[in-house]
Amino acid sequence: MCGIVGAVAQRDVVEILLEGLRRLEYRGYDSAGVVVLDQERRLQRVRCLGKVKILADAVAREPLQGGTGIAHTRWATHGQPSERNAHPHISNDRIAVVHNGIIENYAKLRAQLQAQGFVFTSETDTEVIAHLVEYELRRSDNLLQAVQKSVAQLHGAYGMVILDKDEPERLVLARSGSPMVIGLGIGENFVASDPLALLPVTRRFIYLEEGDVAEITRREVRIYDTDGQPVTREIHESSASYDAGDKGPFRHFMLKEIFEQPQAVANTLEGRLSESSVLDETFGNGAADMLRKIEHVQIIACGTSYHSGLVARYWMEEIAGISCNVEIASEFRYRKSVVRPNSLLVTISQSGETADTLAALRLGKTLGYVTSLAICNVAGSSLVRESDLAFMTRAGTEIGVASTKAFTTQLVGLAMLVLALAKNRGLDTEQQKELVKALKGLPGLLEDTLKLAPVIETLAEDFSEKQHALFLGRGEEYPIAMEGALKLKEISYIHAEAYAAGELKHGPLALIDSEMPIIVVAPNNDLLEKLTSNIEEVRARGGMLYVFADENAHFEPSPDLKVINLPHCHEWLTPIIYTIPLQLLSYYVAVIRGTDVDQPRNLAKSVTVE
Ligand code: G6P
Repeated sequence: MCGIVGAVAQRDVVEILLEGLRRLEYRGYDSAGVVVLDQERRLQRVRCLGKVKILADAVAREPLQGGTGIAHTRWATHGQPSERNAHPHISNDRIAVVHNGIIENYAKLRAQLQAQGFVFTSETDTEVIAHLVEYELRRSDNLLQAVQKSVAQLHGAYGMVILDKDEPERLVLARSGSPMVIGLGIGENFVASDPLALLPVTRRFIYLEEGDVAEITRREVRIYDTDGQPVTREIHESSASYDAGDKGPFRHFMLKEIFEQPQAVANTLEGRLSESSVLDETFGNGAADMLRKIEHVQIIACGTSYHSGLVARYWMEEIAGISCNVEIASEFRYRKSVVRPNSLLVTISQSGETADTLAALRLGKTLGYVTSLAICNVAGSSLVRESDLAFMTRAGTEIGVASTKAFTTQLVGLAMLVLALAKNRGLDTEQQKELVKALKGLPGLLEDTLKLAPVIETLAEDFSEKQHALFLGRGEEYPIAMEGALKLKEISYIHAEAYAAGELKHGPLALIDSEMPIIVVAPNNDLLEKLTSNIEEVRARGGMLYVFADENAHFEPSPDLKVINLPHCHEWLTPIIYTIPLQLLSYYVAVIRGTDVDQPRNLAKSVTVE
């Protein structure tokens, strides 16, 4: 969602704020803005419609300077993207606010504040925060108190930072439902919605807890809990790479991240496997004992992470013999569900901050699961902190909005979970060894699969003028077809649907004509024969087929059937391997169509609102 950065320093902070915004742009990029307090204690603000680059150009034209400032990159919720609606919002030339989240009772507050004479200049929910704090400040001793009184009146989700021009070397921040982190400097301090924004200036971070309100000055950090009591929160040293925000030689972050997958998977496997099993400590202290009790698994996630859960269900039931449900978080959180005895709750999330997934975890924790496990890529994220157990995917920072390396490393984590559960359920040692060996061979196999990039780049030309595409798969390849379709629509804006191939005859066959490309995920497994019949059904109706197949399956190409051969791999790993060409396909199609690959329209990488 929106990205927030703030700084209190002796030096000029404008470039720090802009660099922070560049690094946060993955959270939202429809408009951006910055406010600094200048030497005459005036709030100087620049805002613009569009990306941070446009903001930086505007700042270059009308230079700003100041030691205290806040900045924001927006993903619109209330009010369309425009300069007027861009943050920071200012009240009475005194209070400036940046906010990530949604204030659900903003309409009521707005009416109350208007009745008090406040004039609103935007359609956002955020502007009520600015006026409310200004209003409360009139009856408070200081900014901190005014913010505490204000947040008590807000319903919804927020991570926010407030600057008062009359307290020039201080920022007050608050968190409820949206992440906020404090970055500790030497004689200067910072805040952001993600530590990535602050890596150029610090590696020491304090994460605010739910309900915390904090104030930072150049030399001090004070944190207060929901009851207004001073609290101490742990300091984390980040080992994240400073360069995570650089594309290197790649044209887009997405391509870089696709090619990072062999290394990301190797990192995710490292130190977690013996010759024949998953090491006990892989899922955290005490996890092995917990996992021994498990007889059912409930997986919850959103978007691409949901697809990895769907794959895991096939593995879980086939290899571990454990029943498994998978559900979209936004559905789970609003329905009554029945928890089976001895159930494990697994949430999957790249960011660990997805609002629906977090809400589902919080609900799940009240329902009687044995324990909760987060499979996540961001250490210190809310999901990790609030779960009993965590498995970190070690994919490294993922910047492209379309998730790639996070997905394949989630699959690796889930495969290890399946192995750990299967071991408890008596999977024989030889089979365990075989699966462990297959997992260890994954990075090499991924390297080989990536060599297909030039072939797929050429193939992508066939799709550049298409309006629709259909993806087919069976078994654990069905979720891979879903993921392929999601990638294509996210970044190339081609309407794409995935179907379980056996379901074709119950409707989608009606769509098939020569204009409809059909992408088939066809590894060499025991469903191949059935899938081949489905391919013939399409062919008989004039569809153009693109079959991603095992090199050993010897599919015959023909004018209406293009075959893309993939390296042979263990049957268990096909969902991971067959994901790669589909990622590459959507990437190259998007490049040909000239879309904004890393920041596709209307989307955001981390969705911290409902
Ligand atoms: C957004 C992103 C998707 C991602 C989904 C879930 O929609 O654009 O790429 O799959 O959120 O995010 P999470 O961080 O929970 O995996």
